[in-house]
Amino acid sequence: MPWVVRDAVRDINRMVGRRWQAVDPLLPDPAALPAGCGAPLVVNGDNGRLAGLGVCVHHHVPPGSLNQTWGAADRFTLVPRLAGQDVGAPADLLLAQWRDHLATVSLARGPDTSASVVWPSMDITGVAALLRHGLQPLTVIAVRTRPAAPPGPRAPRGAPGVTIRPAGPADEDVVTDMELRLIRYDMHFGGPVWRPGTARLVRDEIRSSLARPAAWTWLAEHAGHPVGLLVAQPPQDSGWIAGMTSSAPAAYLQTMFVDARERGTGIGAALVRHLHARLDAAGVAVTLLHHSQVNPLSAPFWYRMGYRPLWTSWEARPATALR
Ligand SMILES: CC(C)(COP(=O)(O)OP(=O)(O)OC[C@H]1O[C@@H](n2cnc3c(N)ncnc32)[C@H](O)[C@@H]1OP(=O)(O)O)[C@@H](O)C(=O)NCCC(=O)NCCS
Repeated sequence: MPWVVRDAVRDINRMVGRRWQAVDPLLPDPAALPAGCGAPLVVNGDNGRLAGLGVCVHHHVPPGSLNQTWGAADRFTLVPRLAGQDVGAPADLLLAQWRDHLATVSLARGPDTSASVVWPSMDITGVAALLRHGLQPLTVIAVRTRPAAPPGPRAPRGAPGVTIRPAGPADEDVVTDMELRLIRYDMHFGGPVWRPGTARLVRDEIRSSLARPAAWTWLAEHAGHPVGLLVAQPPQDSGWIAGMTSSAPAAYLQTMFVDARERGTGIGAALVRHLHARLDAAGVAVTLLHHSQVNPLSAPFWYRMGYRPLWTSWEARPATALR
């Protein structure tokens, strides 16, 4: 990268870092811009000075990988760096350039493609531009911080007759069944895609994870029957997402599912409280999770459990829906 561009990236990142800290202290310092599939997109302000940069990253997810279940096969992501108090106008210009760039990429014209931007949830000044360009708020990364003090003496509403236990290799069938039901439920909201290998790949992953001594997978049982599932990743396995927040160490809550007949009786809360007690005792500063923006069950539940939005993933699927 020529030094002029390197200096520009450094200056923009410094301004973006200040902006992010002002809108949400749990945002990290902006990472160095990744290598993109073309030259960086450049936006100048009215005064002719650099107002923003963006890089388009193309990720091809091969068929036969579990990752293909979580979205399109060809994912085009814009990594924006916009400075200023109100980023609406530069965001508009950057998104228009990105749309024009994608129009020149033949792989971006297929049906199994997406164009997405991960945007700080609290940074509301760019939202109108994202909407105007045909992007939809699909997924939220929500965050919960460890409380400063342990919970008070008031006992939380319990789930009578419910017990929680770690899952082991013998639970492969029931864990797989709940995980697949969760995927089918989430498919209503435009996120996951059912692939020919989904059921087998999910089962394979569950089998290898349950074989580990500490699988971080728990089942809630009611009258001896498994009715709820929670899967989490301890900080040592959450490095892939830890960079999304300024706080450390970070854990990740991967799966949460309660049988439809048992919902609303406190089972989900019991599973989450069980995990939080463990994380808080271990000094884990933040817990992150993904939920679908429009899942009518998950958002109210997670915000009741102490989470709030940190990042929102805006997506056009297929990528040609970007306008
Ligand atoms: C989300 C889910 C796990 C919640 O589990 P649950 O056992 O029904 O939740 P609980 O009964 O423990 O509810 C805990 C609290 O959240 C509240 N809550 C739960 N669902 C709610 C909803 N849809 N609307 C408003 N509040 C809700 C409860 O009222 C309760 O609050 P309280 O402590 O004040 O009584 C469950 O609905 C589910 O499995 N949904 C389908 C799969 C899914 O969406 N998973 C999450 C993917 S990110």
